[in-house]
Amino acid sequence: MKLDTKRHYLFVLALAGTLSATAVSAANAEEAPKWVPGEPYPTELLKNYPCHDYELPCGKMNSPPVERVVFKGPLQGDAERGEKIAINLRWGNCIACHVLPNHDGGTIGPSLRQYAARQAPLDYTYQRLWDVRYYNPNAHMPVYGPNKVLTHQDIVDVMTYLYAGK
Ligand code: HEC
Repeated sequence: MKLDTKRHYLFVLALAGTLSATAVSAANAEEAPKWVPGEPYPTELLKNYPCHDYELPCGKMNSPPVERVVFKGPLQGDAERGEKIAINLRWGNCIACHVLPNHDGGTIGPSLRQYAARQAPLDYTYQRLWDVRYYNPNAHMPVYGPNKVLTHQDIVDVMTYLYAGK
């Protein structure tokens, strides 16, 4: 029970980290995050996207419908840009839950180091990043596409970074 609460709390924080993504453009992607993990999240940032915490305004918003998307490749994004998105706490925020190529990270999700070696189909990974609910309605991963947290190009860049294979 204790562990569950902690995980849930961490999840909300991690999700919250993605909530302000619309405010982040490529131009200011390297700006220092205003939220520091472990400290209370600024509540004014919780109004944009639905979250799993019913105590917060975001918990009362309706989730957008599940979106099935198809991606056949080729995968020719910008791995460096993808890495920035993945480690930016106010953008992709993958690092909150995943160990990543070149970076230590959270352990709520499986490690994504050497993700390339798993040879996961591009379509599977793209769908997961666009709308994870297609595979797992209770997934702890944020819903990036329909919530307009990540664009198609953002996801392709993050995938190019993951599949670069480190
Ligand atoms: C709030 C935590 C959280 C965040 C943030 C998050 N993930 Fe996940 N991720 C998970 C969890 C938990 C799983 C395990 C599967 C599930 O819950 O459906 C997962 C699974 C995955 C998988 C599938 C791995 C496999 O073994 O098939 C990929 C790929 C992935 N995440 C990529 C990402 C990327 C890239 C980002 C950032 C854009 C991200 N995740 C952000 C929690 C998160």
